[in-house]
Amino acid sequence: MIRAYLALLEEMDRRRRCNQLTAYRPYERQTEFHAAGATNRERLFMAGNQLGKTRAGGAEWAMHLTGRYPDWWAGKVFDRPVRLWAAGVTGEGTRDNPQRVLVGPPQQQSEWGTGMIPADAIAGTVMGRGAPGALDSVVVRWGGGGDVQAGESVLSFKSYEKGREKWQGETLHGVWFDEEPPLDIYSEGLTRTNATEGITIVTFTPLLGMSDVVLRFLTAEAVERIGKP
Ligand SMILES: Nc1ncnc2c1ncn2[C@@H]1O[C@H](COP(=O)(O)OP(=O)(O)O)[C@@H](O)[C@H]1O
Ligand SMILES: [Mg+2]
Repeated sequence: MIRAYLALLEEMDRRRRCNQLTAYRPYERQTEFHAAGATNRERLFMAGNQLGKTRAGGAEWAMHLTGRYPDWWAGKVFDRPVRLWAAGVTGEGTRDNPQRVLVGPPQQQSEWGTGMIPADAIAGTVMGRGAPGALDSVVVRWGGGGDVQAGESVLSFKSYEKGREKWQGETLHGVWFDEEPPLDIYSEGLTRTNATEGITIVTFTPLLGMSDVVLRFLTAEAVERIGKP
């Protein structure tokens, strides 16, 4: 009896851990951030530490990659498999933030599939050649429900430290900047998404004050208000 019960608990725990995407319920600011994607190609989620920026970015990226949009979704929808990038400042930062939230604990390969991309949607992973445990890319099963033809999306991880040259090349549907990128990298990423009418998201904690990328998103009045009580 007890053994059967423990096995059941273990199975429930496994399902919960492999089900992050369906369990995701955005906070109010996360909801606003997602919804803004329906009408804006470029979005900035600026908030203090630990307020759910990386989780919001991860949840939205997992939806686009899998095509599994929840009933309540009011944001951007792609009707085909996508090519997305997710990037941080360094290889380690990308691994410990976007990769961890999307795939699971970087150092425990047996736990990959416990992040926002459900285990059953991960068709393959390609290791990077930089930081230990850092992935180069993930192949994700897209669609296949109802009469929609199944396909494959590809997520690649990038970092700003590699410089703008590494950011040139392929056409993308979306680029996620987790933490603020230098303007030349941001522009390069945005250019990658032009042909698809794709999107960019920036999730960022204002530690270093207002830079040129952040100022792109603020109105003159908002800039006026900064620093005033
Ligand atoms: N909608 C949500 N529901 C439940 N937990 C959340 C939600 N959004 C964020 N969290 C949790 O809050 C913590 C901080 O989130 P995170 O995205 O890492 O913050 P940030 O990137 O803003 O520093 C994490 O433990 C995350 O799992
Ligand atoms: Mg974060």
